[in-house]
Amino acid sequence: MKLPNLTEARKRTSKEVEHIYLDEHYDQNTFKGQKYFLRTYGCQMNVHDGEEIAARLESLGFRPTEKLEDADIVILNTCAIRENAHDKLYGFLGRCKHAKKDNKDLIIGICGCMAQEENVVKELMEKHPYVDIVFGTHNIHELQDLILNRTSKQDISVYSCEGEVYENIAYKRDSNIKAWVNIQYGCDKFCTYCIVPYTRGKQRSRKSKEIISEVENLVKDGYQEVTLLGQNVNAYGKDLTDELSFAELLKAVAETKIPRIRFVTSHPWDFTDEMIEVIAKYPNIMPYIHLPLQSGSSRILKLMGRRYTKEEYLKLFNKIKSTIPNVAVTTDIIVGFPNETDEDFAETLDVVNTCKFDSAFTFIFSPREGTPAARMEDKIEMHTKEERLQKLNELVNSYSLAANQKYVGKVVPVLIEGISEKDKNKVFGYTDTMKLVNVSNGQDKIGKIVDVCITDAKSFSLDGEINN
Ligand code: 5AD
Ligand code: SF4
Repeated sequence: MKLPNLTEARKRTSKEVEHIYLDEHYDQNTFKGQKYFLRTYGCQMNVHDGEEIAARLESLGFRPTEKLEDADIVILNTCAIRENAHDKLYGFLGRCKHAKKDNKDLIIGICGCMAQEENVVKELMEKHPYVDIVFGTHNIHELQDLILNRTSKQDISVYSCEGEVYENIAYKRDSNIKAWVNIQYGCDKFCTYCIVPYTRGKQRSRKSKEIISEVENLVKDGYQEVTLLGQNVNAYGKDLTDELSFAELLKAVAETKIPRIRFVTSHPWDFTDEMIEVIAKYPNIMPYIHLPLQSGSSRILKLMGRRYTKEEYLKLFNKIKSTIPNVAVTTDIIVGFPNETDEDFAETLDVVNTCKFDSAFTFIFSPREGTPAARMEDKIEMHTKEERLQKLNELVNSYSLAANQKYVGKVVPVLIEGISEKDKNKVFGYTDTMKLVNVSNGQDKIGKIVDVCITDAKSFSLDGEINN
């Protein structure tokens, strides 16, 4: 059997693939009465891809189900950022294989970042022939054709080269209150631990006029919030000529008068003073910045290829805090990067003690095949890494609680999003600073931004009630 070499595989450019999603292009009766089960892992980018996949499935007539056993097609939208993703994929495939025994017509599809990994594709071909279709992050637009033209043979459609930037994509959005809006695809930063530049390709920005028109349509449809999405939003437009900078894009989006604008993820290296000023100036740009630190040690940051030192991060952090009133800053931190010493780790704790982040996502370094960091020799034992993670989490959580406690007794604007899953008598929403609030009244306020009095604080959420 010829194994796929992804550097050669599917050199078709997207121009050869004509079927960009158009509602009228596909027949909604094709799979009428049939159901799809879609499971998405990973970041917001993947979640938003999931909304595109759902729209494509529905264009053929499929309708959603929460039960794998009821499904006629199963799509697993995978994440590759850490190793445990593999366990999730193969655990899930076990269930699919079982389901296919009961329903031999079940279509099984694998997509997302893992589908861009050569070793994963090889394994799917060799060991999981019951998987019908595999498609990568650059060719989601082929989904309908892959389904319609499938044969009894497994169909692998993964571009090794970057896909084009498509416009007029239909999404089945999970919410009619807040929406994701892609502003760029891929990433050029190549941090040495990170697989994203390999699975999602080099940075490709969308044209600002397309982004703004998408936001204008969302405003017309009554959306209250957009989150501008990219791996490194601050570098927006740098890959295009005559395009707006991220600061200018933010201004233009703010002018659409959408009530709330958020953006993720920011890389400290590309964060300019102009961006900080724009965020401070426009009341509809939320005072919330996710600013991944990764490590507090300049030595480790250099090995990570992050392009800033501890001091430069702190300088930027202070500028953000002193310029944007009431801003919340959250972060990502990796412990146990190859040969991280106790001293390096102490530097990370030092930055956490200085910045007192509103919250932080913390991870143990996970070697990803094909990245430079995975080839670095590492003498640190796993139990040391686990101890560091625990220590870091305790510190981070104490600051999250302290940050939340400052809200008690205050009245803050909250966008009410829906009924709380844990308590059907409550609703939930987020503050401008992205704090989750469980609200004891306000079922009639879903979709509205209302003033909420905060009554109690926990590490990961606030309680409150609406002042009538
Ligand atoms: N190991 C551990 N954490 C990682 N991240 C990215 N790659 C790895 C890896 N190989 C973390 C970073 C990033 C977040 C989305 O995931 O902190 O900001
Ligand atoms: Fe990965 Fe670094 Fe790009 Fe973020 S900026 S996606 S961590 S390579």
